Amino acid sequence: MYLTKEEELMLAGEHGEAIQLAMKVIVRVGEALGAERLVKITHAHASGISYLNISEEGFSFITNLARKGGRVRVFSTFNPIGQCLCPNPLINNPIVLRKQSLILKALLNMGFKYSATCTPYFLRKPKPGEHLSWGESSAVAVANSIYGARTNREGGPLALASALTGRTYYWGLHIPGNRRPTIIVRIEKNVDINNLVAGLIGYLIGLRYPGEIPYIEPSRPLNLREAYQLCAAAAASGNTSMCIIKGLSIEDKGSPSRLRVEVIGENEINLAYEELSTADPSEAEAFFTGCPHLGPSEAKKILLKVIRRGIILRKPLWIALPGYLTLYPEWIKLSRKLHKHNITLFFGTCPVVSNIKDVVRTIATDSVKTAFYLPR
Ligand code: F3S
Repeated sequence: MYLTKEEELMLAGEHGEAIQLAMKVIVRVGEALGAERLVKITHAHASGISYLNISEEGFSFITNLARKGGRVRVFSTFNPIGQCLCPNPLINNPIVLRKQSLILKALLNMGFKYSATCTPYFLRKPKPGEHLSWGESSAVAVANSIYGARTNREGGPLALASALTGRTYYWGLHIPGNRRPTIIVRIEKNVDINNLVAGLIGYLIGLRYPGEIPYIEPSRPLNLREAYQLCAAAAASGNTSMCIIKGLSIEDKGSPSRLRVEVIGENEINLAYEELSTADPSEAEAFFTGCPHLGPSEAKKILLKVIRRGIILRKPLWIALPGYLTLYPEWIKLSRKLHKHNITLFFGTCPVVSNIKDVVRTIATDSVKTAFYLPR
């Protein structure tokens, strides 16, 4: 692999042990895939941060990099963690809390932004054509599909290594020629799209068309939240890291000609709903929304309405939000107020990456990604 002078020095250990290890990871992965060179990135987003998911091996990897003096070179953020950043009695395993706090400290010492979110695009909107190294599958699909930025679906350690070196291997979706649609997926005209249905469409696309870049023709133009749901579900049920959504994607150049056309209709969507529903909604002990994490302005609008109207929910509603919001006292105040309304805000975590799934047996959700992962 061709390396610049600076990259060679990093690999030789001239910039310290942490950078050397990070560079080795990137170069070896790149060489295994046949990449000819590296590329500079503008934003790294590390996943694989929850102690519950990565256990001792992941814990040692991250804390060692910090101990060896690792410092980020580019804007760097990290995914939700296994604890809530605002005290939450439902998430209280003392071992997890202690280990998770040490991981958090290591990331912050290395210069990561206090983020803890799977929607890093709310913190820094990706620009068309810029190179990223992101490790959260839903965010990867959003960055490529909606914003036209370029990232492969990285593993947590590789995105972390990219944060420390400011580089990733030039391969896959970084190359313009690999970003063209390979199949058309048409949604039948009578399909009534909402957040849930958008997620179900994504779920079917991920399952049915692995390795493809689908050009999606929805029955009506999608709004951003629906597109986020679609991307998250497609990345969860399959390996979809990019699609082009007609009328929304920056890289949409109109319906491509001479591609295979697949159609998704109401029946298949209903069947997918049945497949993912492992319980009746009336049995739910709690309701959950915010997968991927809700955007702050969207969430605030709804929550203030609930308070103004004095709505008290009969069953608990859990909402997952970016962890960085705990830096703002207004959000802590809002979170306390909402307890009276039977609403709990989960800052910087979610049911999938925390142990909340051990506390209740049945959760109802509007997120297909959560419905897909929780029973697993
Ligand atoms: Fe985010 Fe958790 Fe969903 S990390 S995408 S809220 S599974």
